[in-house]
Amino acid sequence: MFKKYEKVFKTQYDDWYQGQSDYRKKVASDPRRLKFHLMPKTGWLNDPNGLCQFHGVYHIYYQYTPFEPMGELKMWGHYTTKDFVTYEDEGPVLFPDNDGDAHGVYSGSAFVKDDTIYYYYTGNIKYFDRDDYDYINQGRGSNTILVTSKDGSNFTPKEILMTTDDYPQDMSNHVRDPKIYQHGDDYYMVLGARDRESKGVVLIYRSKDLRNWEYYNRITTSESFGYMWECPDLFELDGKLILNSCPQGVEAQGIDYENVHQCTAMEMDYDFDKNTYEIKSIHLVDRGFDFYAPQTFEDEKGRRILIGWMGIPDADYVNPTVEDGWQHALTIPRQLHIRDGKLVQEPLEELKQLREDDGTVYDFGGEQGPVLTNDIYEAFISFKKCESFSMTLRYGVTLTYEDQVLTLNLGEFGCGRKTRKVQIKQLENLHIFGDTSSFEIFVNHGEEVFTTRVYSLEGRINIKGKCEGTMTVYPLKSFSMEGGCNEE
Ligand code: FRU
Repeated sequence: MFKKYEKVFKTQYDDWYQGQSDYRKKVASDPRRLKFHLMPKTGWLNDPNGLCQFHGVYHIYYQYTPFEPMGELKMWGHYTTKDFVTYEDEGPVLFPDNDGDAHGVYSGSAFVKDDTIYYYYTGNIKYFDRDDYDYINQGRGSNTILVTSKDGSNFTPKEILMTTDDYPQDMSNHVRDPKIYQHGDDYYMVLGARDRESKGVVLIYRSKDLRNWEYYNRITTSESFGYMWECPDLFELDGKLILNSCPQGVEAQGIDYENVHQCTAMEMDYDFDKNTYEIKSIHLVDRGFDFYAPQTFEDEKGRRILIGWMGIPDADYVNPTVEDGWQHALTIPRQLHIRDGKLVQEPLEELKQLREDDGTVYDFGGEQGPVLTNDIYEAFISFKKCESFSMTLRYGVTLTYEDQVLTLNLGEFGCGRKTRKVQIKQLENLHIFGDTSSFEIFVNHGEEVFTTRVYSLEGRINIKGKCEGTMTVYPLKSFSMEGGCNEE
């Protein structure tokens, strides 16, 4: 086993991997393993990283700790796909093997230009041996590192572009997760940060050549909104400029911001000539228990696609999969749009290929609802009328609508996590993806989404109440995963 916070070289990983056949079998035999979500083969997964499409192939990298399920030392894992239903596990690609990233190849992104992929990530260094190490303001290094690739798998040597000393003086040591946005001929790099007063901000750097970066500005709210904004992502969509980020430690406000950390979408008005901005609105991106650090990219068809981490940091429950040696997954891919000024998410078209058949349509109304059993399914529920209802999504897991509030209740199967809610004035439809131990529930064509893990494994779906409509249910099949370079 690797020691905590020591460099890991590819050759060491390869040797370790050879001896882990039993570990992989143990993980694979867990009935909670998901059928159409990306997961770590062993150990821990968190943020999606480096998302891009290059020469037709989608590259999905992720924060990966293959050795154990608590996620101590991070590297980048790598999946590829052409169609989002057949994947290759390419094995880990960026290792913490350098003085600039020895304690973690942290999150970052990809930018495709002139037949080259530019990757920017944070090299994490913890100076435990220093007397003044306090985790926040002293004793941590956050290096912004560049590597490039012509194929997504082979990389140029790591180049440190910026170190902790290069960021503004009033920043704490927490500066990370670079992502690139192009506007005109200029490139802008956004970095998540915590200032020395523990206010969350996003730093912006500007470059003409993707290599030399100059400090440009910072985005923050006038009143403090969380102490650290992780994983910023600035992008244009349907004529609007959106800043997604993950403010940590925002206080709950009624049924909003109930998770320990959040993911928000801010609509921005940015005047790049004057370098001034206004944050026009802030919305929660997801309403469930397990959604964090999403990343977006534009694919070759011009679609803005989002994939998130189906988990959150500092969660106050123990995920039962830990005893089987693994933890967490990525969300299904979603296409983004702006509708009525709001970011909306819809499951990617390609997921239709997972349907086992053309779907069964059930009319429902009143007290008698259909009861069906499929372990993994997609359901589209279209309401003609909807005043209130109670729906079973799976044994012991319910979704209810009452007084214009939609409530997801995990009952006994959330490992202590019970309910999450959202106000919906008029419920028109629900689009539900149920995998063995997860749900993604898209409300009113993705105006709101609940993403959550849940540990009731028995399929069952039923709707009854003061409502009428049709429900179309599709049993789903697994996506396929090839072992890639790590095949047994
Ligand atoms: C978000 C995050 C990032 C960091 C990475 C480390 O979940 O904390 O800010 O780069 O995870 O794994």
